[in-house]
Amino acid sequence: MANNIKKYTLMHKNIPVADLELDEASCAISAVGPVYEKLHLPTGIPIKKGDIDRGALNEWWRGRAIPASRSGIRNALVELNLSTTQKLLEKCLGLSLSDQYWICPADTPIAWSQVNFFDHSFSDDVGNILFGQGSSGASISLMSPDNTSDGWLKKKWKIIDGKRCLIKGGSGATWQEPYNEVIASRLMDRLNIPHVNYSLILEDGYPYSVCEDFITPWTDLVSAWYVMQTKRKPNHVSIYQHYLNCTDSLKVPGIREALDRMMVLDYLIVNEDRHQNNFGVIRNAETLIYTSAAPLFDNGTSLWFDKPTAMINADTKINCKPFKNSHEEQIKLVSSFDWLDRNALHGIEEELRELLRDSIFIDRARCDALCLALKNRVAMLNKVIDSGHTLYEKDNCRSDVKENVAYSGRQDKKLR
Ligand SMILES: Nc1ncnc2c1ncn2[C@@H]1O[C@H](COP(=O)(O)OP(=O)(O)O)[C@@H](O)[C@H]1O
Ligand SMILES: [Mg+2]
Repeated sequence: MANNIKKYTLMHKNIPVADLELDEASCAISAVGPVYEKLHLPTGIPIKKGDIDRGALNEWWRGRAIPASRSGIRNALVELNLSTTQKLLEKCLGLSLSDQYWICPADTPIAWSQVNFFDHSFSDDVGNILFGQGSSGASISLMSPDNTSDGWLKKKWKIIDGKRCLIKGGSGATWQEPYNEVIASRLMDRLNIPHVNYSLILEDGYPYSVCEDFITPWTDLVSAWYVMQTKRKPNHVSIYQHYLNCTDSLKVPGIREALDRMMVLDYLIVNEDRHQNNFGVIRNAETLIYTSAAPLFDNGTSLWFDKPTAMINADTKINCKPFKNSHEEQIKLVSSFDWLDRNALHGIEEELRELLRDSIFIDRARCDALCLALKNRVAMLNKVIDSGHTLYEKDNCRSDVKENVAYSGRQDKKLR
């Protein structure tokens, strides 16, 4: 019996990287052919004795699909008449708005310039279905960058005034994440931290955050997860140090400074979800030179977003990622606070109050609690800085028991 196998070439923009075969039933890569351009392989995919590690490539490919944990995905799949989100990958040739990888069918040569989502518009059908709004008509176009979007929250790409923008919702009754994205942007404006700028829109009465695509046709976003696959991590080396070692080898400039800023932001907003797909680096897709840390994005899972009002308190114990399990420990990894203008944070809580003023989701009591708690986090950071205690230099090279153990084993796709 003939297997339903389709032949493709994995492409990096215009460069053929390797031939591969996709099994239609499982959507898995069932065979990998010769590698044409080793250097253009996705970062962190190993080559063993001249062959691509097919298991790793499969995980990478599966990881491009919408995670099964995406809010509302069951209903969307029913509407699309598909069994898994992996089936959507082939429908858009694996094209994304976060990097330049795609697959070209062996029997229909196509150029990147003919199909990429940076230059070509795309249908809102998949996005609308993901948002539970149905599609425009009888024939649904599945050619959409939404098929390759990661993360748990309801989201869709939309072209607004010619710009590719990511629209992202919230969760629970307070739907707080979009507001958090906006206040985190304002906070980073004040501290001059490179970041993705989020603003707020309302759709059907619900607030959503909107940000522009920070990737261009000349760049790739490479997640910290894949950066950390480029080297073996010895047990005695901490995740923090391992990330520095990997980015050093890849010659990514400014990572220590970027991590200092990320850990300060996450301390202030008590971010709970800075896992290894929520930060990373930027690579030039043509020269393959790593240019910088990615601007900070996905800061919404913070500010006690899923806690009842009574538990909103600067001291509430909150889990921390990616380097330590508590923010108190993680902030000690910051190598320098010299860049931080403490005066710039003055009154940030009033900016939050203004942002939440008209929200029907966040009532007065919650707003008051959030503003007070944020103000107290600023005070706590000041104390940390004044105390001068730091694990940096002394301890950052060693793994310790308080470190997140989530590093080893498979990446948990249930994470946002
Ligand atoms: N502005 C952006 N430009 C390009 N890619 C983005 C942008 N924002 C997010 N992404 C990509 O989309 C993924 C999901 O977005 P994210 O904001 O992390 O959503 P979630 O809150 O659901 O995790 C990110 O991990 C990143 O790969
Ligand atoms: Mg995310």
